Amino acid sequence: INKIAVFTSGGDAPGMNAAIRSVVRACAYHNIECLGIYRGFQGMIEGDFKPMDARSVKGIINKGGTVLKSARSRDFLSPEGREKAYQELKKAQVDALIAIGGDGTFTGAMVFNNTYKIPIMGIPGTIDNDIFGTSHTLGYDTALNTVVEAIDKIRDTASSHNRLFFVEVMGRDAGHIALNAGVGAGAEEILIPEEDLGLERLLESLRRSKQSGKSSSIVVVAEGDKIGKNVFELKDYVEENMLEYDVRVSVLGHMQRGGSPSCFDRVLASRMGVKAVESLLEGKTNFMVGLQNDKMALTPLENAVKGQSKINMELLRVSDIMTT
Ligand code: F6P
Repeated sequence: INKIAVFTSGGDAPGMNAAIRSVVRACAYHNIECLGIYRGFQGMIEGDFKPMDARSVKGIINKGGTVLKSARSRDFLSPEGREKAYQELKKAQVDALIAIGGDGTFTGAMVFNNTYKIPIMGIPGTIDNDIFGTSHTLGYDTALNTVVEAIDKIRDTASSHNRLFFVEVMGRDAGHIALNAGVGAGAEEILIPEEDLGLERLLESLRRSKQSGKSSSIVVVAEGDKIGKNVFELKDYVEENMLEYDVRVSVLGHMQRGGSPSCFDRVLASRMGVKAVESLLEGKTNFMVGLQNDKMALTPLENAVKGQSKINMELLRVSDIMTT
């Protein structure tokens, strides 16, 4: 392997820049060339490449977003699009790819590898933490801190006005952000897709917390929660059934994806970048690097995509006890 190309794809996540920096510097350390691909698979199709040396990634470890930009490419879904991407990579003499992203990115990378056999390594970058084979994805820790900070602020105003707040957080189909940030911010209830609390039990729990002397409450709702109502319908439902509560909704939205990465995400990104480059140099392909028991580990990309990132049941129990 003489040249590795790196790209970010799908939803961006804090720590992606730190991972790009790590890949570029690990390549420089091993005296191989590194190419940055802009806008993920779309930039691959369009040959939007830039050579990157160790100095080109200075000053980005602390930056949110991704300097290589990200996109969700429709063209790459077609064999013609992928053929164009392959021709561009061949022209640029790329020997291997490092894909930083989530399960959509890895699926695209695997489909590409099936036909064109370019060695590929994945680095999990998504705030959702919904990837099997790593305890933490890049950006998840930062997003948790962002959410906790936001909920702390919402709590100030909730308690001044004796209000109940539904705070919707991201996570796609997974409840990791909601559960962990909810426990961290001391939420009164946490609604996640992995556990169906049911509307009656939610009301009961809110009544209990009111009776126990709480004048305001925070309910964290995962965007993928399956309680059967969206967060605004939940507000209406609770207001109709609990007249004593003044209810408000706050949807945190894309601010959860931004901001300077936490130290944890920067360190994780640095480790993952080095592991990805060195695994390719050892001749490995079609794996994702991940964190398992504080060690770098490889998981076949297929398992990373198909496997389930399980919710922490112990934490679920802790959250139930904390809301007593
Ligand atoms: O996967 C990251 C994520 O932020 C999810 O939490 C959310 O469901 C989705 O991306 C939003 O996607 P978009 O930025 O395309 O609206």
